[in-house]
Amino acid sequence: MATYPTLSANVAQAFAPGRVNLIGEHTDYNGGLALPFAIGSGVTVTAAGADGDRVEVHAADLNERDSFSAASPARIHGWRAYVRGAFAVLAQAGTRPGGASITIRSDLPRGVGVSSSAALGVALCLALTELAAEPPLDPLATARVCQTIEQTWAGAETGLLDQLASLHGAAGAATLIDFQDLSVKQVPLTLDGHSLVLLDSGPRPPGATAAYNRRRQECEAAAARVGAQDLRGALFQDLHMLPDVLARRARHVIGENGRVLEAVHALERGDLTTLGALLDASHASLRDNFDVSTPTVEDAVRRLKDAGALGARLMGAGFGGSVLGLLPLDAAMPTGAVAVRPCDGARLLTQSALP
Ligand code: GLA
Repeated sequence: MATYPTLSANVAQAFAPGRVNLIGEHTDYNGGLALPFAIGSGVTVTAAGADGDRVEVHAADLNERDSFSAASPARIHGWRAYVRGAFAVLAQAGTRPGGASITIRSDLPRGVGVSSSAALGVALCLALTELAAEPPLDPLATARVCQTIEQTWAGAETGLLDQLASLHGAAGAATLIDFQDLSVKQVPLTLDGHSLVLLDSGPRPPGATAAYNRRRQECEAAAARVGAQDLRGALFQDLHMLPDVLARRARHVIGENGRVLEAVHALERGDLTTLGALLDASHASLRDNFDVSTPTVEDAVRRLKDAGALGARLMGAGFGGSVLGLLPLDAAMPTGAVAVRPCDGARLLTQSALP
């Protein structure tokens, strides 16, 4: 039984949703484009101030706990790394909430590619900044803190897609993010007679993070070889300068950026047939150029297509996780598929009691 420090009256609570990425995969860390949206499920963090330096954490859904020093959290793996990392990275930015008692609740499935870890980071960042009685960080600064937690505490060299999608979510719209200038624009997501569904293809293997980091290095190497700052600045006609693997990585990123813009135009026209074809093309490129599909992912894509999907593609990093499909509303959903729709983004639920 954990003993909890004496609580002060100071409590802050924040919610951050998971995300679905409609299209634009492995583009964020290449200065590219993506079109994600926040979903209704997410992570809620309740943080109560406590005297002293001890932080006690309860992950209610897992019924697991952690306890550490707010001023000098030690390294650890798993969900605990995100909480300790939040204290460490926020402290570097001048935000020190001090001792606290924290409860984490989540209705997001973990490890299926809907960004449960980014949602945890964002909810922690919002709640702990409020608890420290600091002015809220803007969404980009929040996303950057969370990215640093992900990179330096969880070892995943991720981009800013998941955090920005969670922070900018808006009911009824997908968020077009340009990772070159980090601008965002809401794009109404009207799916007349259709719905977007997720079908879990199974867990990612242990080596998935290392494989993701390798993809990022390959993209950076490809950009350097064609003399571009990042692959946003590369062109199809540059690809002949590259060895096969790097050429395929770059081909995916250049093509995917184009597909994001085409998807925005298709949505503006209400052209769901084209949107479906773009999802299929994105998947084919992720499989054949980026090499991030697996037999179980292919099986999930096939099940969605057999059910009548206009398009289906692997979502997120790949190597497993959720597959996204665009299905007519009257189609029989494959067993295990769940419908998703755009919802509002991350927010504070309870303000701290301090002035
Ligand atoms: C993961 C990462 C994101 C992004 C996607 C691929 O979700 O966290 O930053 O790179 O993979 O699009």
